[in-house]
Amino acid sequence: MERLKTGVPGFDELIGGGIPRGFFVAVVGEPGTGKTVFSIHYAWEGVREGDRVIYVTTEESRESIIRQAASFGMNLAGAVDEGKMIIIDALLRGKGDEWSLSDLSIEELVEKIIEAKKKLGYGRARLVVDSISAFWLDKPVMARKYSYNVKRVLYKWDFTALLVSQYSITTGEAYGWGLEHIADGVVRFTRRIVGGQMIRMVIIEKMRHTSHDLRVHEVDIVDGVGMRIGEPLQLRREDLELI
Ligand SMILES: Nc1ncnc2c1ncn2[C@@H]1O[C@H](COP(=O)(O)OP(=O)(O)OP(=O)(O)O)[C@@H](O)[C@H]1O
Ligand SMILES: [Mg+2]
Repeated sequence: MERLKTGVPGFDELIGGGIPRGFFVAVVGEPGTGKTVFSIHYAWEGVREGDRVIYVTTEESRESIIRQAASFGMNLAGAVDEGKMIIIDALLRGKGDEWSLSDLSIEELVEKIIEAKKKLGYGRARLVVDSISAFWLDKPVMARKYSYNVKRVLYKWDFTALLVSQYSITTGEAYGWGLEHIADGVVRFTRRIVGGQMIRMVIIEKMRHTSHDLRVHEVDIVDGVGMRIGEPLQLRREDLELI
């Protein structure tokens, strides 16, 4: 089975070498846990490997994503200039920008992604939608139907996709129910206070057709370098304090 590397040191080993080609993987977690940084690594690895790369950003501007990547030494601006990558900015809302969305609808999203794929050309492609939950925030009951439609329509375009889903700070649950069931994989980032310090961690909750790691691993984000996966954590219940 062909697998796509994420480019995050230590991560691909947890999932048998990478994400199986054609998979739609949900990346879930609370604010600041590393979902966007993880997605940027995945996009940059695609650029390095010669994949077509499409990154849809709904909460941060295109410039913010480019700047975040630059802080880790990744030149996404160059990749865009060279026609290897398209960043679709949902915040611009159609203000004369070719790669923006006029509204936050699933139909518009899918249409724009297909347009971008045609522009980038034939071949293996990576897609990041950061975040997909933005498209159903005001109608969470549609989450399952929408994510099913996205997967069904985009599958034939040779995408291997990360669909980022935000988790509510108050309840610790996803906005909208069902994405995790539709997804071929679920990567969950989370955070705890341990000994007076916040630690980030990651758990592979699901990866179809893969004997994946079941342990909780620490996650580091380092200036100039980016994300890397640390040691498995041995946390006792009394050590854990939810933020
Ligand atoms: N250059 C950097 N050096 C070190 N740490 C950084 C750097 N850039 C970002 N970080 C860390 O990454 C965190 C942001 O992570 P990220 O944007 O991936 O979170 P997220 O899960 O996408 O959150 P949200 O749901 O709010 O979008 C920052 O709060 C900071 O701790
Ligand atoms: Mg983010």
